[in-house]
Amino acid sequence: MRLTVIGTGYLGATHAACMAELGHEVVGVDVDPDKIAALRAGQVPFHEPGLPELIRKHTATGRLRFTTDHTEAGAFGEVHFVCVGTPQRKDSEGADLTYVDAAFAAIAEHAAEDSLLVGKSTVPVGTAERLAGTLGVEVAWNPEFLREGFAVEDTLRPDRLVIGVRSAHAETILRKVYEPVLEAGTPLVTADFPTAELVKTAANAFLATKISFINAMAELCEAAGGDVGVLAQAIGHDDRIGKKFLRAGVGFGGGCLPKDIRAFAHRADELGVSLAFLREVDAINMRRRDKVVELARELCGGAVLGARIAVLGAAFKPDSDDIRDSPALNVAARLRLDGADVTVYDPEALDNARKAFPLLGYALSAEEALRGADLVLHLTEWPQFREIDPERAASLVARPLIVDGRGALDGDRWSAAGWHFRALGRPA
Ligand code: UGA
Repeated sequence: MRLTVIGTGYLGATHAACMAELGHEVVGVDVDPDKIAALRAGQVPFHEPGLPELIRKHTATGRLRFTTDHTEAGAFGEVHFVCVGTPQRKDSEGADLTYVDAAFAAIAEHAAEDSLLVGKSTVPVGTAERLAGTLGVEVAWNPEFLREGFAVEDTLRPDRLVIGVRSAHAETILRKVYEPVLEAGTPLVTADFPTAELVKTAANAFLATKISFINAMAELCEAAGGDVGVLAQAIGHDDRIGKKFLRAGVGFGGGCLPKDIRAFAHRADELGVSLAFLREVDAINMRRRDKVVELARELCGGAVLGARIAVLGAAFKPDSDDIRDSPALNVAARLRLDGADVTVYDPEALDNARKAFPLLGYALSAEEALRGADLVLHLTEWPQFREIDPERAASLVARPLIVDGRGALDGDRWSAAGWHFRALGRPA
């Protein structure tokens, strides 16, 4: 089939490349000429394992092209996927739909009458219905559940496909688009517009709630002297609870969970329904950042002024160079404001961090960050940080004090090497 993908950020670039991999002819469209030039040259402006290779493969096979021209895209596509961002509004917790509205309007103007416009962006419930009522072209909604760092895998082999459709025709088209994925046994959920939109925000709200739940238990463990790691493992043995997404630590960040739960609660308010518990989920999450800042102060003898602090990690999670709402950088910036001399190291996110937080110090390796440090904070659990030899690390720092803000390091090993080891939600 001939598909277009409007918006070539994380979601769009991945979707375009994966649709080409499924055998379709795909045109990726963006208003940013620099992004399009980079993608044409096979360069992906963010870190996503496997994606550059897939883009280069299909620009070479000719199945994947990129353009800034909506007229060309409109004439080409039988199905147009809209994959633009929905950031938090500046004036409220709600989602900013400027890009979604503009992308739909731009493609609808040039799209063939019998084409299908499919929204993939995360939107407040009611958006699909509103767009369908104004555009004069058939609309469908097909939310996306991919995780950064696993974007290609999650798109080619998703847990499920969800489509919100208003006609058998739209369902037939989307089944054809995803035929290889469906043939591999992926469950398809067909729903109306509001349900399809809600599935996405409900899923992210549930995941955020799970993380904040375990982090609230971490707060209790800290107050009562328990161990949240053992607690999570024990409750996770119950299949109904499950082991995943129960890693206590400095909490969730990124471009999705924080803004999605705020927009969800905001939209619920508009509909006269209270999702106030999501505000507590958000508050618990933010309190974990405060806790790391407090622990740093405590370990530096009451104030961090003048202390040299090494921060391991800048990305909001490993396997990503995304620093949007990163807990690690939030903590680092606050300690810097308090007068600490903060040096950050991250395997992939240094360039992005440097641009957004120019006042922080940066090191080109973990060793360089550790050298002379009075305190080490482990805030993004990159696998290579688990490989650090605690004895070698102890020989580099000024004082062997470490806070594991991700519950990912082997505390016994660090303690045996002479470190004072602290982890969130675990006994001191
Ligand atoms: C999240 C969802 O997992 C995806 O399903 C969804 O498609 C995506 O948002 C989106 O809406 O686009 P992502 O933001 O890539 O994906 O990251 P996650 O892997 O969900 O991690 C989110 C945050 O939670 C990270 O900061 C991570 O460190 C933190 N986390 C995760 C924990 O603190 N504990 C856990 O147990 C798991």
